[in-house]
Amino acid sequence: MRHMTILNLLPSRAVAVIGAGAMGSGIAQVAAQAGHEVYLVDAFEGAAATARDRLASMLARLAAKGRITLAEADAATANIHVTDSAAELPECALVIEAIRENLDDKQALFAAVARSQPAGTLFASNTSSLDITAIAQGLPHPERVLGLHFFNPPPLMRLVEVIHGRLTSDESLTVATQLMRAWGKTPVRCTSTPGFIVNRVARPFYGEAQRMVETGVADAATIDLAMREVGGFRMGPMELTDLIGQDVSLAVGTSVWEQTGRDERYTPTELQRQLVADGRLGRKSGQGVFRYDASGQPLDAAPDRALAVALTAGPIVTNPVGRTIAMLVNEAVDLVARGEASAEDVDTAMELGTNYPKGPIAWGAEIGFDVIAEQLRHLDAAFPGGRYRPSPALGAHVGS
Ligand code: NAI
Repeated sequence: MRHMTILNLLPSRAVAVIGAGAMGSGIAQVAAQAGHEVYLVDAFEGAAATARDRLASMLARLAAKGRITLAEADAATANIHVTDSAAELPECALVIEAIRENLDDKQALFAAVARSQPAGTLFASNTSSLDITAIAQGLPHPERVLGLHFFNPPPLMRLVEVIHGRLTSDESLTVATQLMRAWGKTPVRCTSTPGFIVNRVARPFYGEAQRMVETGVADAATIDLAMREVGGFRMGPMELTDLIGQDVSLAVGTSVWEQTGRDERYTPTELQRQLVADGRLGRKSGQGVFRYDASGQPLDAAPDRALAVALTAGPIVTNPVGRTIAMLVNEAVDLVARGEASAEDVDTAMELGTNYPKGPIAWGAEIGFDVIAEQLRHLDAAFPGGRYRPSPALGAHVGS
């Protein structure tokens, strides 16, 4: 099989990583530790060299802590080469871009690099929100363009969403998927649907909590406590958006909303828009939903545990845990029913990408898809407009 030949060649061949920011340097580290000669490129003069120096110290620290051997650290460091210009790249098996999130920039970059690369080179974008088909537009080999969506920080996060645009070939996907496994990652496949798997299915985790605060069901700290203590989520939605940055979270949500033709299910909340407009961006600005001291510790008073628990025993409309899970299951089932990703990949992606206690499809099967559908019908009656419409696939008990 041809792709096996390509895959066998890959580890001995060069990988280019373009954009040496938070994501690009992390991806370069992963590829270098997997034994590739890595060419790290950044248009900002000196940025790639600075990133390499930082990676060298990080690898040395990992060796000092005994996580990897000194020989492994030295070998990975020696594998990282830097340049300020993509025009100087040697022939590469794979080019991964992690430059800023702008369609024109990404298209122009791939078009320029493609001119000096052989026809077999794979082009992968780490985009979190752009359409892979659009990025491939106008390239000589769109069948070799795909998304490799790593999570932050790439060396620690196992999940990689392997995204196919409309023209991506099966062979490219197979090679990329096998390569991610060889890099120690857990790849999942998804079409280039807005938000892919994780950023799509996770929307209601934030949106439901925000809506419940807006309508006065409970305060933010009480909802977070209920989600942690009863829902089993590692962090509450409010503290998590404060950590991610309310501006970053709003940008992701708005992008999914716009790309789905402003589907009511993804309408950003007034609460989050106001936080961003007020500069209350979260921990990084000292205040978001909550207030933080200089070391990032929350300053707000502890919520009432009894109240948090009582909420989760109440009707679905005022139950933060039940309401959120119902919406997560609905999103997940819908994604699978539309053929964007498999049920197994959706659960894997949510467990690894968001650390939810269970994958939403498995959760739905456990609770009962009929129960979830009934809960959504209650919510739809209480808040008409389409946000709570049950996916038709719930009736078919997808994944059960
Ligand atoms: P960043 O801002 O930390 O780094 C981007 C780097 O690209 C900068 O060093 C910049 O100088 C360089 N650059 C910009 N245009 C360039 C060009 N034309 N040629 C070469 N270098 C160029 O950004 P970050 O956070 O690393 O994100 C990069 C990409 O990864 C974006 O598409 C983002 O949506 C995506 N992403 C980000 C995640 C995150 O948590 N930060 C998670 C998953 C994906």
